[in-house]
Amino acid sequence: MQEEKSPNGRWSGRFSEPVDELVKRFTASVLFDRRLALFDIQGSLAHARMLSEVGLLAASDLAAIEAGMARIREEIESDRFPWSVDLEDVHMNIERRLTELIGEAGKRLHTARSRNDQVATDVRLWLRDAIDQIQARVRALRIALLDLAEQHTETIMPGFTHLQVAQPVSFAHHLMAYQEMFARDQARLADCRRRVNRLPLGAAALAGTTYPIRRERVAELLGFEGLCENSLDAVSDRDFAIEFTACASLVMMHLSRLSEELILWMSPRFDFIRLADRFCTGSSIMPQKKNPDVPELVRGKTGRVYGHLMGLLTLMKAQPLAYNKDNQEDKEPLFDTVDTLLDALTLFADMMGAITVNTQAMRQAAREGYATATDLADYLVKKGVPFRDAHEAVARAVRHAEAKGCDLADLPLEELRQFSPVIDADVFAVLTLEGSLAARNHLGGTAPAAVRAAIARARATLGA
Ligand code: ARG
Repeated sequence: MQEEKSPNGRWSGRFSEPVDELVKRFTASVLFDRRLALFDIQGSLAHARMLSEVGLLAASDLAAIEAGMARIREEIESDRFPWSVDLEDVHMNIERRLTELIGEAGKRLHTARSRNDQVATDVRLWLRDAIDQIQARVRALRIALLDLAEQHTETIMPGFTHLQVAQPVSFAHHLMAYQEMFARDQARLADCRRRVNRLPLGAAALAGTTYPIRRERVAELLGFEGLCENSLDAVSDRDFAIEFTACASLVMMHLSRLSEELILWMSPRFDFIRLADRFCTGSSIMPQKKNPDVPELVRGKTGRVYGHLMGLLTLMKAQPLAYNKDNQEDKEPLFDTVDTLLDALTLFADMMGAITVNTQAMRQAAREGYATATDLADYLVKKGVPFRDAHEAVARAVRHAEAKGCDLADLPLEELRQFSPVIDADVFAVLTLEGSLAARNHLGGTAPAAVRAAIARARATLGA
């Protein structure tokens, strides 16, 4: 960072003493908002072009601005741009450098514009791009889940409720539950993007501008789908950032749930899966350890993204119209949310593609938990027993099997018949894990055929 020489670096003749040093540092945002630089340039170029088209900027000035901005872009990309905290933020840094480079024409750029509509535009352009990157990574994760699911439509594991063995499901079915969650996340992000993708520029400071600008033209040049239709609202509200962070929180919540399951499944008590070594770390004291650090950290970082959502909601709460400096605080939470999401999603897509599945341990766990008890009750109901009576008969059968230390399917027919005389030899078809899965063959069910159809539908919507 370069220090500005003039005591009046930031402000004009209106000020009678230099800005206090701490105030300068406290109010400056350039250390973080320089991240918006390329979008700031993009917005400025569209604005300048519109100004020249409506006759507010000479063609030669536009050409100079374009050349100057090209040079600034190069400086920024090669890390040679002379950022200065004295110039407060990314907008003033770029504008000042432009004027240094091209003179008079640089001073004309800010015609019919304010930093208030400028920053709102930059953040929207930046966020639109970030959403597109996130979408690509959610999509990659969904494909990784589909690829893994495809190999495991016949792999049987216990389905849990209350973390107690409930009914058998396929591992594919379990994975496809997450695939559905991430599909909804994508839909939410797409919907959010439509509201992000609107142009605030033209609102100027708050009331609009006296110049004959063409906002539609700027929107068109920047690829916005529409305009913010009230100038006060355009410079003031950050609901789009809050909405995005809410979508991001839901993505993290889903990742956190999956993380929790991976952590449980990787524990030797379950031993259902192994994560590839590159996603784990060891212990400095316990030589035998292999810890699932990546899912644990993703679970932990979920709290941080929720925190950003709360932070942004609170930032906006009770702000009077229109722009207030409070809004400068929207950037760091937004940046951190996007960084966290991009890393977590990238890691997860890779990690899910490299899981080793212990199908034997999964199957054994399903067998040990009386997972087909509901199937036996359904069997009795189909033979005319009222469901409540069937439930009670099976409960007694489970207790009996438990006392003998075996599965329901291991009980001889005569013993099973003690609990209900309608039981016949055909009962063993429903007491098997395979029979239990196959019987749930409807849309949304865990039968291999139903899950294969779900995978095919998801692939069709993803075009993958
Ligand atoms: N750095 C400011 C922000 O991020 C830019 C807008 C400043 N506008 C103002 N009137 N001080 O919000």
